[in-house]
Amino acid sequence: MSSTFQSSLVDTFQRPVDYVRIAVTSRCNLRCSYCMSEAHQESTDAHSQLSKQEIVTIIKVLATLGVTKVRFTGGEPLLRMDIVELVREAKKIAGIKTVNLTTNGLLLDSFLPALVDAGLDAINFSIDTLDRERYHTITRRDEYRRVRDNLDNLLATAVIPTKLNVVLMRDINSDEILRFVDLTREHAVTVRFLELQPFDDHQIWRTGKFFSADKIQELLKSNYSGLQTIRGHSTQYFSYVLPDHKGSIAIIPAFTRNFCSQCNKIRITSDGKIISCLYEQKGLKLLPLLRSNASHESISDLFRKAVSLKPLDGKHSAKDTGRTSMSEIGG
Ligand code: GTP
Ligand code: SF4
Repeated sequence: MSSTFQSSLVDTFQRPVDYVRIAVTSRCNLRCSYCMSEAHQESTDAHSQLSKQEIVTIIKVLATLGVTKVRFTGGEPLLRMDIVELVREAKKIAGIKTVNLTTNGLLLDSFLPALVDAGLDAINFSIDTLDRERYHTITRRDEYRRVRDNLDNLLATAVIPTKLNVVLMRDINSDEILRFVDLTREHAVTVRFLELQPFDDHQIWRTGKFFSADKIQELLKSNYSGLQTIRGHSTQYFSYVLPDHKGSIAIIPAFTRNFCSQCNKIRITSDGKIISCLYEQKGLKLLPLLRSNASHESISDLFRKAVSLKPLDGKHSAKDTGRTSMSEIGG
């Protein structure tokens, strides 16, 4: 396939799309209470999930349409045995500038050197608490020690740019903001506080745990007189630095969705659907095309169609969210 751009993907609101988030699996090794229930049924049908070659084809086609940034998500992407190969292959594709990973970090000790060697550009590490018992309560797994060791190793070795994703929940971990900010003192890490989102089957966000971006800002400002606002971008809509801190701080208003006007992404689910907005459920089925030897042009056409369906913002999405877990679409 030629690597020349066929035409860029631009939606009906003139937003260029150059970022693809690919959920490489819907399986997860944690059971975070805001994401899925303990009994959440995972797909055991490997055939229904995208293969490595299919993912590579998707990225190749998207690269010809002007996509430059790839993020592998899940579920937990490190549960995929071929994740290192996926990173290596994605890095080889002409036009792809960065390949990134969002992970819960539990298996990072087994994969980090190989991922770095394969050319991975950056890691977003999801961790909601720095307390072992709370970690167990939130994730329903007693894995804090391993996750924390992996985080400490990542920060100490600084082998790859790292951001932390911390979902803040009232009365669960909202008192840990300062502990997380403390990590930015000695480490060049971006600590990002996220709003809770309504994608879990028992709807924990309806139980008064929602902690808004406004409230997070208020807390940061009242605790740090030296807090300086820097230019935010994309999901890091509110961004800050502190004097003498090596890292930075950001707030992701994932539910308030202030950043939709800058939205530059599309998502691929692990079972091969194209989703044009995080708040959309249905998506367009790409898997049948991939499995019927369709031409790259037909696949490109489906991407163009998906991008043309992209809503103005998450509040204008189809909203038939029968979604029972964020793991189906990779957050
Ligand atoms: P960077 O490329 O480092 O900026 O990362 P990112 O924020 O695009 O990706 P990441 O996987 O770290 O996303 C963190 C969280 O932000 C996700 O789990 C979502 O909760 C939220 N988020 C990411 N993208 C979107 C989006 O397009 N819309 C909304 N509403 N939330 C998003
Ligand atoms: Fe884009 Fe939808 Fe997220 Fe808004 S909510 S930033 S439109 S994906």
